[in-house]
Amino acid sequence: MKITKRVSDLLNEQFYNELYAAHIYFAISASMRLTPYQGVAKWMRMQAKEEMEHADKIYEYLVERGVQFKASDIRKPETDVFASPLDGFKAAYEHELKVTAQIEKICDAAEEDKDRVTCDFLAWFLKEQVEEENNTFQFVRALEFAGDDKKLVMGVDSWAGKRAE
Ligand SMILES: [Fe+2]
Ligand SMILES: [Fe+2]
Repeated sequence: MKITKRVSDLLNEQFYNELYAAHIYFAISASMRLTPYQGVAKWMRMQAKEEMEHADKIYEYLVERGVQFKASDIRKPETDVFASPLDGFKAAYEHELKVTAQIEKICDAAEEDKDRVTCDFLAWFLKEQVEEENNTFQFVRALEFAGDDKKLVMGVDSWAGKRAE
């Protein structure tokens, strides 16, 4: 069973989208390292590594399907300065929504091309997106609640810092 060119091109593009997501998370983490919010810095760095694993999953799938991998540039994040944990988590949540749309677009193409194996492969990513949207949004909600109360923000920070390695 051959994978169609448009599906493999989209997956190849998604490999770079995942690395781009990693870049954003590294940028947020680096900004937070310069603040007292070390828990958020840790959380974001761990997420950056997870995004690289997503890219690796796609890489493995592409080569397994016999696709000639195409190297490309990784886009630069729009900003690398995040003023607060809320700024960072808002950017992360908004980015996760974009990634969900990217995955859905590949699913649509795979479905149209009757590529059931790719649909099956992408089901894991869709479920992962539900989790990642929820994870980032719950921090947005908590940080909005905390507002300018530094003690509450530090509480959210220690929650973020409990993320298991
Ligand atoms: Fe991802
Ligand atoms: Fe993600």
